Parts: sequence; C-alpha cells; structure tokens
Amino acid sequence: MEYEKLSMLNFLRIKGKNIFETAKEFYKFTEETRKREHYYYRRVSYSGSGPKMMVKDIYTNEMKEMLNFAGNDYLNLTRHPETIKAGKEALEKYGTGAGSVPLLGGTLDIHVELEKKIAQFKACEDSIIYTSGFGSNLGTLLAILKKDDIAILDQFVHASIADGCKSTNVRYFLHSDMDSLEHILKESKGKYNTIMVGVDGVYSMDGDIAPLPEIYELTKKYGAFLFVDDAHATGVIGKTGRGTAEYHNMDGKVDMIAGTFSKGLGVVGGFIASTKEMIEYLHFYSRAYMFSTAMTPQAAGSLIKALELVVSDSNTRNKLWDNIHYLRKKLLDLGFNLGNSETAIFPIIIGDDIKVKEMVRYLHKNDLYVNLVLFPAVPKSLSRIRISIMAQHAFEDLDTLVFHLEKIGKETGVI
Ligand SMILES: Cc1ncc(COP(=O)(O)O)c(C=O)c1O
Repeated sequence: MEYEKLSMLNFLRIKGKNIFETAKEFYKFTEETRKREHYYYRRVSYSGSGPKMMVKDIYTNEMKEMLNFAGNDYLNLTRHPETIKAGKEALEKYGTGAGSVPLLGGTLDIHVELEKKIAQFKACEDSIIYTSGFGSNLGTLLAILKKDDIAILDQFVHASIADGCKSTNVRYFLHSDMDSLEHILKESKGKYNTIMVGVDGVYSMDGDIAPLPEIYELTKKYGAFLFVDDAHATGVIGKTGRGTAEYHNMDGKVDMIAGTFSKGLGVVGGFIASTKEMIEYLHFYSRAYMFSTAMTPQAAGSLIKALELVVSDSNTRNKLWDNIHYLRKKLLDLGFNLGNSETAIFPIIIGDDIKVKEMVRYLHKNDLYVNLVLFPAVPKSLSRIRISIMAQHAFEDLDTLVFHLEKIGKETGVI
C-alpha cells in the first residue's frame, strides 16, 4: 500500500468493487493509519466538553487529562449551571422525548418559545427548529430549491449546504471573492426562478468572516436571495453575540439565517430564521422537519436559557475575544500561517498531510487535543491543524499550546 500517496478520496469508490469490498480496503487503510499513530479521530472524552477533558488514549489505553482545542463550545455553555438546571427542569416536566413529529402532536410550548426567542435574536419574523444544524440546512435547501432554481455558493460553504443543494443547479464562486460572485450572478440573471446565494457567516475550517455587506449589495443588484449559515458566529460575533448580521450592522437584511444550537449555544439542534411566510412554508414542505420527531424537551429547555445567557453575559464573550487576540498574536509572531482567520477558529495551514499528522501525534502525546484537517476536506496545499478555543481557557493553557506548537513547528520546518 502506497500509504503516503493515499487519501480518503481513493476509497470513495473503487472500480470493479462493490461497497462492502470497498469498505474492506478502506478499513485496511485506517489500520495502517493507526499503526503509524496517525489516526486521531473519535478520541473519546470521559468528562464532556470543557477547556480540559479526560480522554482515553487510543494508543496507550491510559486515561489522561488533555487541553481541549478541538470543540466548538466557545462559551462552554454545555457546562453552565443554569443551562443544566433549565434542561433538568424540562426533562422532569415533559419527559425524555417530544413524542411525535412537530406538525402532528410533537410541538411543545417550549419549542414555540425557543422559536420566538431565536427569531428575535436574529432580528427575523419567525424561525423553525430542527434536531441538528446539518438537518436544518439539508432539510430547508432541499425543500426550497428545485430544478428551475440556482444556488450560488462560496466554495468553502459547509457540507450541509452543498448537500442541501443536490436537487437544484449549483455554481461555486471563489472564496469571498466578489468579482467571482458577480460574474456568476450576471450569467444567472433572468435564467432561473429563484437565485440563492449561500455563504457561511464564519467559515468552519478557516475562521474568517464573510464580507456580508458586499455580498448583500450584489444579491440586491441581481435579484438574488441571501442564505447565511451562522453556525460558528452565533453567540460569538456581533456586540451581543447575535452573529454575522449584527457584526456587520445588517440586522433584518438577510433573507434566511441558518444556524446550529450545538456550538456557541452548547446544546444540539439547528434553526432557520426568516419571514413568517417562509417559515410556514417550511413547516409543510421541509420533509426533514415534517417527518422527524421534534427536539427533546431537555435540549429546548437548556437552549432557552442559553440564549438568555448569551445576551446578558458579555463578560464570557469578552474573555473569549481576549483569548482570540492573545493566541492570534503569539502564533503570528512565531510565523505560523493562519490564513484570514479572525475568530476562535485557528487554521494552522501547513499544506503537507504527513507533516500535519506528525505534528498532531506530537501534540497528542503532550496532552493537547487538536484536530487535523486533510485532503480532500481541504485542498492538499492547504492541509492543516485546526485549533478552536473557548472563553474558559486560561492564558497559561494557551501558552502551553504555543510552547508545543513552536517546538514541533521548528522541528518539522513548518516555521
Ligand atoms: C458551518 C456549519 N454549518 C452547519 C453545521 C452542522 O451543525 P450541527 O453540528 O448542529 O449538525 C456545522 C457543524 O458541524 C458547521 O460547521
């Protein structure tokens, strides 16, 4: 096996082999990856999300405390006493599940309260909630975009947006490149029923913020609608954590704001905020909503509290931003390539899969839990370590990370 030359792309389909034979070949590849101690997926936490986590080492089987730079729980609301209490109360009152699909018996008063709260939070008329962020993007876009429509997507949009556009026409514009977007809009004008431009507010692998004002102007100029996925922006950016529209002073201008409850809000689920008519349309035409049981009461209860906390507690968000500025300066001073990252997501762009794996092995051995992002998730020349931080990291935690990154960065010739 030419391990060094292989990537996941080689096992998507293997000519002449059925899918079980293909899976067997892929399994051999992951075994080889493990043998070389290059496998750092599904490392299991025994403590839950936090700045530090108890993790069972997949290679030594020992339980160890690791600094966690791998999550999206930016404000650590997963562990906030009040979100836990609110979840417990909802669990006691309503039980473990909603019992049915939302249209036919599964809608609880706390679901409606959450929908109202998230709509208000995003300065939209109404919202619809799903049991995952992936599901909300998929279920919404599949429902609204058909063969006579087109989705014009930033090349780095999240997989759930790309997958949601599988029953419509799709074109990609160069990442945050307004000339590229305008070119496609010009060519599309008048040819489709609905033109939807889709971007992430904050890009999940790059940590940069979409230039929404420019994108908005172009959508207006060419009669297109704007869909923004605020998964990594919600709770994090904007003065009160409301996300990308607030950050750019554009409240009320985005046609559809998608987001997830699983990151800055610390629970699970997803939402779409839009006009009241669009939300009612989705209640009936989004199959992922209509044919899927409603969110658990505990999740809804915790989320109502999480939204209140995000708005009322700017101290935690400010501490997150202090951490972002602190780490960013240290890494840039050392000469790491962070792309255009501006938020709590730090891509350390290396462009060599083997070096990325070697660095992550070293960091893992030194109790630092970071993620590796390789081809085909990103182009080969942009393979990277992905670091994400939370408000609860102490500066000393960040110093520990920087110390080890500097050491292994120099040893591998990355800096
Ligand atoms: C940009 C973006 N959109 C959507 C999702 C999906 O959200 P969820 O994890 O709630 O399914 C993710 C996260 O994984 C994401 O990064």
